[in-house]
Amino acid sequence: MGKHRASEVGGDNDGTALPGVVSGMRGLIGNTPLIRLDRLFQGSPAQVLVKWERMNPAGSAKDRVADAMMTAAMAHSGLRTGGHVIESTSGNLGVALAQQCCLRGVTFHAVVDPRTNPRQVDLMRAYGADVMRVTEPDPVSGEWLPARIAAVSAALAAHPGWHWPNQYANPVNPAAHCAGTAAELWAQAGSPPDVVVVAASSCGTLSGLRDYIDSRQVPTRLVAVDTRGSIIFGASSGPRRFPGIGAGVIPTLAGRARPDDVVMVSDEDCVAGAQLMLRREALLCGASGGAVVAAAARIAAGLAADQTVAMLAHDGGEAYLDTLYNPDWLERELGLSPAGVDEIVGALARRAEPAAAGALAQPA
Ligand SMILES: Cc1ncc(COP(=O)(O)O)c(C=O)c1O
Repeated sequence: MGKHRASEVGGDNDGTALPGVVSGMRGLIGNTPLIRLDRLFQGSPAQVLVKWERMNPAGSAKDRVADAMMTAAMAHSGLRTGGHVIESTSGNLGVALAQQCCLRGVTFHAVVDPRTNPRQVDLMRAYGADVMRVTEPDPVSGEWLPARIAAVSAALAAHPGWHWPNQYANPVNPAAHCAGTAAELWAQAGSPPDVVVVAASSCGTLSGLRDYIDSRQVPTRLVAVDTRGSIIFGASSGPRRFPGIGAGVIPTLAGRARPDDVVMVSDEDCVAGAQLMLRREALLCGASGGAVVAAAARIAAGLAADQTVAMLAHDGGEAYLDTLYNPDWLERELGLSPAGVDEIVGALARRAEPAAAGALAQPA
């Protein structure tokens, strides 16, 4: 049983629902806003949209996946209240699963590595999760993901009754994005966006959007964004600073994603994109959101006035205050002084809008 004993989930709607009243925490999942960004790429003729997944109750797009995987496991895989779930997570899925398990009276074992934000670990613990920390990367590849998966396998061998949702291969992961994220985005946008730009890790989001595009035959280009050092799309492996984007192992779901284009970005691009979003729109996004902004800037420059580029921001920036938004960390880890940050932000802005040169002011 989770440390926080919760009553069994059920009766999400007992027929007494009031209009405008959601039913419990799960009623907050999805239906996230689609925001038009008129200031981000000034001078770019295209319409720019972002789906703001931070509004989910545990703060990211992973709420959709955690809810769907837990619902499926309790319906079809014999998981019951009082049972145990284990999952490898770089942060967001762990927080979302911890919240789900708290609600459903299930003990959650989160396998994390040192790159997981301490705040995310604290959140998992607050929801009652048992956090299992991997301290060494995989000895062969030097990557953290295989080390986390090995820890999951060892725990499952010792506890055969535990349930492993396995976000990297579970078809419920893309299904949640197809039925939720994609259906909402296309409905909210009115007419199909010309381009949708999405960060990749498990590839659940990309695969769900791909399924939606193919099944509805919508004329939208799907662009995957990955970080240098991630091997998902065939690049060679290397160090990456930010959690949530990229992978050191090719996820099973990657084969389903079939993006039309892949844009590889650097850690510095993540910083530039996130800072551009902050300075122009006063929106604090996570590192993968910064990556997506950096990729979309290149795409927006080539779009016409009647075209639309939609981005997905998987999470908000709160968990990145000690890294992405911390001047000392940026200087220490990436060699970026405040002036250096201004420079890369200005360069990114010019990339999207050749007409509007000049560095950006710091936020007032
Ligand atoms: C912040 C963030 N961005 C992007 C992604 C990528 O999503 P997916 O795993 O569906 O590829 C994740 C997944 O963990 C994430 O946490």
